[in-house]
Amino acid sequence: MSDQETTILGEFLPYEEKIGESGNFIFVDAKEYIDAHKKTLDNYEKFWEELALELYWFRKPQKVLESVEKPYIYKWFSDGLINVSYLALDRNVKSGRKNKIAYIWEGEPVDKDGNPKEIKKLTYYELWREVNKASYILKSKFGLKKGDKIGIYLPMIPELPIFMLAAARLGIIFTVVFAGFTAENLATRLNDIKATLLITADGFYRRGKIIRLKDIADKALELSPSVKNVLVVRRIGLENLNMVEGRDYFFDELSKGVSPGVYVEPEKLESNETLYVLYTSGTTGKPKGIMHDHGGYSVLLHATMKWVFDIKDEDIHFCTADIGWVTGHSYIVFGPLIEGATSIMYEGAPDYPQPDRIWSIVERYGATILYTSPTLVRMLMKLGEDWVKKRDRSTLRIIHSVGEPINPSAWRWLYEVVGEKRCPVGSTWWMTETGGIMISHTPGFKLVHLKPGTNALPLPGVDVDVVDEKGNSMEPGKKGFLVIRRPWPGMPSWPDGIWGDYQRYVQVYWDKIKGLFFTGDWAIRDQDGYIWVLGRADEVLKVAGHRIGTYELESTLVSHKAVAEAAVVGYPDEVKGEVPVAFVSLKSGFSSSAELAEELKGWIRREFGPIAVPSQIFFVSRLPKTRSGKIMRRLLRALLEDKPLGDMTTLEDEAAVEEIKEAYERISKEIKRS
Ligand code: WTA
Repeated sequence: MSDQETTILGEFLPYEEKIGESGNFIFVDAKEYIDAHKKTLDNYEKFWEELALELYWFRKPQKVLESVEKPYIYKWFSDGLINVSYLALDRNVKSGRKNKIAYIWEGEPVDKDGNPKEIKKLTYYELWREVNKASYILKSKFGLKKGDKIGIYLPMIPELPIFMLAAARLGIIFTVVFAGFTAENLATRLNDIKATLLITADGFYRRGKIIRLKDIADKALELSPSVKNVLVVRRIGLENLNMVEGRDYFFDELSKGVSPGVYVEPEKLESNETLYVLYTSGTTGKPKGIMHDHGGYSVLLHATMKWVFDIKDEDIHFCTADIGWVTGHSYIVFGPLIEGATSIMYEGAPDYPQPDRIWSIVERYGATILYTSPTLVRMLMKLGEDWVKKRDRSTLRIIHSVGEPINPSAWRWLYEVVGEKRCPVGSTWWMTETGGIMISHTPGFKLVHLKPGTNALPLPGVDVDVVDEKGNSMEPGKKGFLVIRRPWPGMPSWPDGIWGDYQRYVQVYWDKIKGLFFTGDWAIRDQDGYIWVLGRADEVLKVAGHRIGTYELESTLVSHKAVAEAAVVGYPDEVKGEVPVAFVSLKSGFSSSAELAEELKGWIRREFGPIAVPSQIFFVSRLPKTRSGKIMRRLLRALLEDKPLGDMTTLEDEAAVEEIKEAYERISKEIKRS
């Protein structure tokens, strides 16, 4: 991030008094925090054990961290028995939160005054009832049991967390697929996990349109032979659905016969039993199914809800993510519910029907915690302060962002405009693989002084470092790879880390820098010990915070009849952080044209999803490659950014100078033409 790098060893903020007053937060010096953090690492097993014992276990664990015969696979709390659905629901129902609101949900359509037409408030008791009913149907209608696998392809409606919790209750392993993904993406995931049931909805609202989700699911089902049944939630009441007899069922119809008092005993699961698999993009190959368990994952979420969000019973937690991504799994579903918090879910887009949608939600329900993303902030910033200012945000007390580096101007906007300098604002670093937040300001533990754009310090018990390729710690101010030195609860879980592909788990995360967990990010530690994550060191794109593999996009392009070869690189974008740009060479018989470029964009939209549509497509006669066949991506990136050839020779280590020169000149002419 350009303005981030310039302030990298930046100043502390001069004006933090207001934060102390309104949030009861006490700032500590980074040194004090670093000392406290070091103590947690000295005996980190004991430290995590104490946190684990704050949760309810059917059987308390005696063991904390255990290695198994497979290197880099660890078992946390292995002899403990637990169930995250029980923690999230039954514990709260039994301990005085029975009639506390668990979810406030609003749909997208509004009335003539601009207010949401549908608002649902589900208490813990109501949610518990719904989950029991859903579990009952999974069990008795579909015969599902512990260890079975299902896919959940639902929009942001209460049934999404309900089915996640219902599956967890029975020990059924689920994978949630983002409702913005296409049939092909859905099918890839269903096939990898071999799901036998798919749960979906008829449709949902997005920017005033109805998306017919079941129709998309139908296309995926043609490619997913393992799926035997489909359960359809009626969100809209759409006509003309293709309901296949004996395969497809409506949830509301199956629910009719279920007694409201139905109770399904939660499975007492071993801590390491798989809770879910969530697919995420890497540098090569198809998406990886990252595994998370019941025990360790719950412990990490419990800890981060306390430290990072300082969660209290009176809080209203508002995470603007979609549950289809890990942020929503951890901080809309499991984290807040384990803590018995009230949280907000909304259907639709953050700027529809008006750019104040987010702020109207904050105002309507008195949100106290806001967890959002830099892309969303930059988009709303552009629409002007007035949309924010006309809504009451005085209830907010903590703001965090996630998903990509936050540039200082976006940070300042959150701090000054949204939070009126009352709220600590942080940028929490973590990834699908870590399960929960790893680096952050921790208002609920010890709050260190703020710097715009930093991620701040590793969480207690988390051993993060910035290293060179041999694993040696970098000096302050020097860029290196972000790694995690010791196992942590919530890490990719037993038995394989990546669903069905232990080898790949080892290769991708542990072999790059032997014995350290390789995150794939660049980072710098500054002189105060603060960590600044700069972005990906590999070929993964972060488009509007969404993680997209260049390989997946390239394969989608190549599956078009006109395309011979494709290379995708990221190009900086003011709002989205970066956007994909594609270089394409065509098969003989096809020629480049503006129409074909549009057709290819439409192809990506349909086959991969709207989030990944390239901003530009350049037609080239050949892709620039090294002798070993590697695409010269850095050359392509340099060309896009209009950097001169002078510094090009150092860019691609495996290529000869002549080849680079030739490719540079040829492609720069070709892209000017297209
Ligand atoms: C990036 C999202 C800078 C990073 C929870 C990481 C960030 C990837 C931040 C994981 C942040 C996430 N500052 N970069 N606060 N948070 N990232 O799996 O590149 O969708 O590796 O998980 O997002 O993306 P994922």
